[in-house]
Amino acid sequence: MTLPSTSIGLLHPDQVKSVIGAAVLAPSTHNTQPWRFRCVPTGIELHADPARALPVADADGRELLLSCGAALFNLRTAIHALGAHPATTLFPRRDDPTLLALVRPFGARRPDPRLVGLADAIPRRHTNRTLFDDRPVPAPVVAELRHAAEVEQAWLPRLSAKQREGLRHLVHQAHHAQLADPAFLAEWRHWTARGPDSRDGVPEYAAGRPPSADGGWVLRDFGTRHRNRADHAEPLVVVLGSFDDTRVDRIRAGQAMQRVLLTATAAGLDASFISQPVEVPSIRAELRRLLGGGLWPQIVLRLGRGTPTPWTPRRALEDVTE
Ligand SMILES: Cc1cc2nc3c(=O)[nH]c(=O)nc-3n(C[C@H](O)[C@H](O)[C@H](O)COP(=O)(O)O)c2cc1C
Repeated sequence: MTLPSTSIGLLHPDQVKSVIGAAVLAPSTHNTQPWRFRCVPTGIELHADPARALPVADADGRELLLSCGAALFNLRTAIHALGAHPATTLFPRRDDPTLLALVRPFGARRPDPRLVGLADAIPRRHTNRTLFDDRPVPAPVVAELRHAAEVEQAWLPRLSAKQREGLRHLVHQAHHAQLADPAFLAEWRHWTARGPDSRDGVPEYAAGRPPSADGGWVLRDFGTRHRNRADHAEPLVVVLGSFDDTRVDRIRAGQAMQRVLLTATAAGLDASFISQPVEVPSIRAELRRLLGGGLWPQIVLRLGRGTPTPWTPRRALEDVTE
C-alpha cells in the first residue's frame, strides 16, 4: 500500500503522513497495532484490523477497541496541533464493520497550548515496566489526570484504602488464572518471542520478565509501599472506567486512556498497564462491583517514576495505510 499523495482537508500529504505517524505511536495490547488507516477525500478513516485480535487475552475485542481509541486520540491531537479542527465521527456501520471513526481535518483553528503539549508528548510516551520510586504523584497532577479522563467521557474514581486492597487481591487472582491457562501463555509467547527485526509484538528488552508465579513487576510493585495512603499511594494505581460498555464506549475509553497517559508523560511521569483484572471476565465483574457497580472498568494503570526504558517498534506506515 502507498501513502496518499493528495491533500485531505487542510492537511497536505506530508502532514497526513505525520498525523498517521503520530497515531501509530499509540499503545496496544502486546503491541499488536490492530489498526488500519484509509485516506478518503473527506478525511482519514480508522479501521480495526481483526487479523490482529487476541482471541484468548481479549476474547471480545474490548482491548482492541481501547488500542484503536488510543490511536484515534493521537490522530485527533496531532491534527489539532497542526492548526486544523479534527471533526470526529465514531461509527458502528453495518456495511463496513471494521470502520471505527472518520476524522475530517477542516477549519483552521489556533491550537490550544495544552493539546499541543499532549501532541509533543506522543513520541515520548512509552510503557515503563521498571520499578517506580517512592516519590508521590503530586495532588495537582492527580487532579489533571482525572480531568483528562473526564474530558474524554471516562472516569478515574478515587479508591478507598479498602478498594485499593480489593483491587490488589483481584490483580493477584487474575494473574494466577492467566498463568494457569496454557492458551493464554501460548498467545503471550507468540507476541513476545518475536525476532529482533520484528516490527510488532513486545521485544524482550521492553517486556521485562516473563509472567511468573511471583508476578514479577506486576505484583511486586503493586501497592506494597504506603498501603494505607489510599489515593496517593506510590505507585499511583488508577482504574479507568466508562459509564457504559458498548463498542463506542470502548473507543471513547481508549481515547480517555491515551489522554491520561499523555497527560502523565507531559507531567514527567512513567506509566504501565495492569490489564489482568479486566481481561478475566469474572474478575472484571468483581472489579465493577468493587467500584460500586456504576462504572465499567476498562483498564488499570500504574503511574510514577521509573528508570528509562527503550522504545518498542512500529510497523511501517505503508503497511497500515490504504
Ligand atoms: C489495552 C492495553 C492493555 C495492555 N496491557 C498490558 C499488560 O497487562 N502488561 C504490560 O506489560 N503491558 C500492557 N500493555 C502495554 C503494551 O504492551 C504496549 O503498549 C505495547 O507493547 C507498545 O509499547 P509502548 O506502549 O511502549 O509504545 C497494554 C496496552 C494496552 C493498550
